[in-house]
Amino acid sequence: MAKNVLVTGGAGYIGSHTVLQLLLGGFRVVVVDNLDNSSRTALDRVRELAGEHGPNLSFHEFDLRDKPALEKLFASTKFDAVIHFAGLKAVGESVQKPLLYYNNNLIGTITLLEVMDAHGCKKLVFSSSATVYGWPKEVPCTEDFPVCAMNPYGRTKLFIEEICRDVYRADPEWKIMLLRYFNPVGAHPSGCIGEDPRGIPNNLMPFVQQVAVGRRPALTVYGTDYSTKDGTGVRDYIHVVDLADGHIAALQKLDEPGIGCEVYNLGTGKGTSVLEMVAAFEKASGKKIPLVMAGRRPGDAEIVYASTENAERELNWKTKYGIEEMCRDQWNWASKNPYGYGSPDSTD
Ligand code: NAD
Ligand code: UFG
Repeated sequence: MAKNVLVTGGAGYIGSHTVLQLLLGGFRVVVVDNLDNSSRTALDRVRELAGEHGPNLSFHEFDLRDKPALEKLFASTKFDAVIHFAGLKAVGESVQKPLLYYNNNLIGTITLLEVMDAHGCKKLVFSSSATVYGWPKEVPCTEDFPVCAMNPYGRTKLFIEEICRDVYRADPEWKIMLLRYFNPVGAHPSGCIGEDPRGIPNNLMPFVQQVAVGRRPALTVYGTDYSTKDGTGVRDYIHVVDLADGHIAALQKLDEPGIGCEVYNLGTGKGTSVLEMVAAFEKASGKKIPLVMAGRRPGDAEIVYASTENAERELNWKTKYGIEEMCRDQWNWASKNPYGYGSPDSTD
């Protein structure tokens, strides 16, 4: 019997890619999303890409904090597990509007856990983040490194990790995977789905992509005086399809005996600088990306990349793609959809 998986935030960037991999892997998928930072079109395209598996996807548009709506859904469908992506994720905005972030991310998660508990669904995969490593003292980051919060967004990730640990301590029937993503980039190789941030992008590759299609004049490079190979910040960029596959591996792991509340890094284990990433994108796209060198962005770490040992050994998962493929697929998506899922008038 095909397994039923609830995916919260499944219309978003990582969610839509994961929903596609789930469908192709034979799962039945129910998405809940309030479309606050995403588009219904993403799921229409996922359905198409999934071919004969497309009918195994259903979508419910509501906010996770709407407990009666969630109750109703759980009363009508028995879920084997939940993958929980839904959340707000813009670091700068979280500093300006901390209560919005605490309300959305924490209340959303607590409501979900309460309804899951009430319906005896106790298997959860949660989107945590490498942001919990802050400015790590050394690299690669292993899962047992000390954790901290650099901003309200990061603090919601830390709090939710702790909430999950407490929920498991109180009831060991729970099985929980806390996945700490490094820097997801790229898009599905079809170029039909990808990242489509609202407003001015905060993250490197969405910004680079908008420069390449002529929506922004130049990329501002934040910091050229770091102790790195070329002075710019170093990160662990991971292809979003590899990341999506990591969720399937985590779901499978939930069925193994002896699983409690576990934490895994999902990254490649390789560090790439801003300038290296820009050069790789220029090569993949044939576009010149004009640069404006600037000072460091407050709160940014110097070098962050993952130790991938635990995920490779215990989840039996490792990444397949390098930065060439990430940039190739990012450009394929960008050139086919220069305005994402919208039109030139629907975005700034
Ligand atoms: P995204 O914004 O594209 O997707 C999140 C989705 O959740 C959106 O579709 C949004 O509409 C939905 N959503 C938000 N609040 C909701 C609510 N209260 N009820 C229902 N739906 C809601 O972001 P993403 O990049 O796909 O990230 C997914 C998850 O991974 C997030 O939790 C994010 O914090 C985490 N994460 C992302 C990154 C990254 O760089 N993209 C890195 C680490 C962790
Ligand atoms: N950068 C620029 N110019 C830009 C944007 C970014 O130079 O316009 C640089 C940053 O200074 C950094 C690198 O590009 O050195 C990567 O920056 P991102 O904003 O793309 O990614 P971060 O590692 O800073 O943070 C992201 C998410 C966090 C998440 C973290 C780890 O924004 O929420 O990845 O997953 F926690």
